[in-house]
Amino acid sequence: MGGGPVIPLTLAQVAEITGGQLHGELAAVVTGEVVIDSRRAGPGGLFAAVAGERADGHDFAPAAVAAGAVAVLATRPVPVPSVLVADVPAALAALARFVADSLPDTAIAGITGSSGKTTTKDLAAQLVERLGPTIAPAGSFNNEFGHPLTVLHADSSTRYLVLELSARGPGHIAYLCGIAPPRYGVVLNVGHAHAGEFGGLDQVARAKGELVEALPAGGVAILNADDPRVLAMAARTRAQVVTFGMAAPEAAIRAADVRLDDLGRASFTLLTPEGPAPVTLRLHGAHIVPNALAAAALAHELGLGPADIADGLSAAVARSRWRMEVHRRGDGVTIINDAYNANPESVRAAVAALCHLAQDGRAFAILGHMAELGAISRASHEDVGEFAARADLAGLIAVGEEAAPILAGARRVRSWTGEALAVPDGAAALDALANQLKPGDVVLVKASRAAQLEGVAAALARGDDPPEPPAMLQEEADR
Ligand SMILES: Nc1ncnc2c1ncn2[C@@H]1O[C@H](COP(=O)(O)OP(=O)(O)OP(=O)(O)O)[C@@H](O)[C@H]1O
Ligand SMILES: [Mg+2]
Repeated sequence: MGGGPVIPLTLAQVAEITGGQLHGELAAVVTGEVVIDSRRAGPGGLFAAVAGERADGHDFAPAAVAAGAVAVLATRPVPVPSVLVADVPAALAALARFVADSLPDTAIAGITGSSGKTTTKDLAAQLVERLGPTIAPAGSFNNEFGHPLTVLHADSSTRYLVLELSARGPGHIAYLCGIAPPRYGVVLNVGHAHAGEFGGLDQVARAKGELVEALPAGGVAILNADDPRVLAMAARTRAQVVTFGMAAPEAAIRAADVRLDDLGRASFTLLTPEGPAPVTLRLHGAHIVPNALAAAALAHELGLGPADIADGLSAAVARSRWRMEVHRRGDGVTIINDAYNANPESVRAAVAALCHLAQDGRAFAILGHMAELGAISRASHEDVGEFAARADLAGLIAVGEEAAPILAGARRVRSWTGEALAVPDGAAALDALANQLKPGDVVLVKASRAAQLEGVAAALARGDDPPEPPAMLQEEADR
């Protein structure tokens, strides 16, 4: 998403839009990126100071201005030009809404669901870009910070905004839709991600459906016909409903003849109302296909023809890190780095992909815990373990205490002869596995973000011992 052009705003406008108090020159103009990471502040930009767990952005206000920021959006006085506001996310929301309202010709699409938002957004962006200038950041950028910051990248040349919307509770998606009212809304699936915070799948569905409730009468709701909770959202929208699906024969956009190559990349025939077109994905895992169909359905609604959609999907690459990254080492060992996050559905999808890749060798999984599952946490970990054992993995390594129930679940499968091992951390997982890998073996590394297992995956991919110090993704830096 670089620091491209943005709609210029004077500080007087920034103060007016946010209801803030200006300490600086009325006429100074913000022409650069709005950022919440002072290290990314640049000429003409606006730095929004946020108090996080580790640091308080206000302390970096002078550094941001020294780096070229015109002013700082702050909640307490800082010794540099500033607009003082009561609440920074609310101020960012107001600025983003102003920008969205200034661009009536820009088509805004929102994508939500429990799993696959970023993957789908990245695929959709690579299709929609064929139609015109598109803003869609790499990474998640799906919350009260990332969402407005993304919208603030749009300018008068922007034809399409492809946005990811996440919910950790009721009202969150409605709030994000208020920042940049979407005309197109894609709902992928209703699963157990953050289920603990919602209380159950029906509550997750209520929250995800806020997206289609926000669509206008002339808008389009793009729904997964294979997920009954998603399909039922058709009753909650004024917009036209368009469906996609793998299994549902009535879906408008479908896939037929799905095959996976030896690295788990799907080929299929894309079926559209205008006819079929062949697709060969570069992303790994059968679970990418519904995401590709969702992206295709959106692009189709925006006017892209089947041949261009199929071509675009076949050319699309992973833009966001640590989702099903497949590394084949020189010695024939394959590592799947899917360490960005984990929930019951995405672990099952990844284990299925692991088994497909390991047809000529042994399958190992290094799994950390799945966060935010609340009351169903223990049972979910056990069920995932049972699934992995039924998939007949050669080895299952659970990292950290919270992941231990995975092994209890695996042991429920009496016929399973694989090795189960509990280790305290990623380094121990590496120690346990590194020396026993042989050509043809495949190792999946997956956990919730907090476990930071990507260093383990990186070390395995290099074939060496020490895990890398955890790198910080841009999307996290921007949170
Ligand atoms: N349709 C799907 N079903 C199950 N798992 C999926 C699906 N699509 C993607 N995944 C897996 O879910 C994980 C997260 O993918 P992705 O980052 O695209 O999802 P997300 O919804 O954006 O997640 P987040 O809520 O963290 O932003 C990855 O492991 C990915 O392989
Ligand atoms: Mg995401």
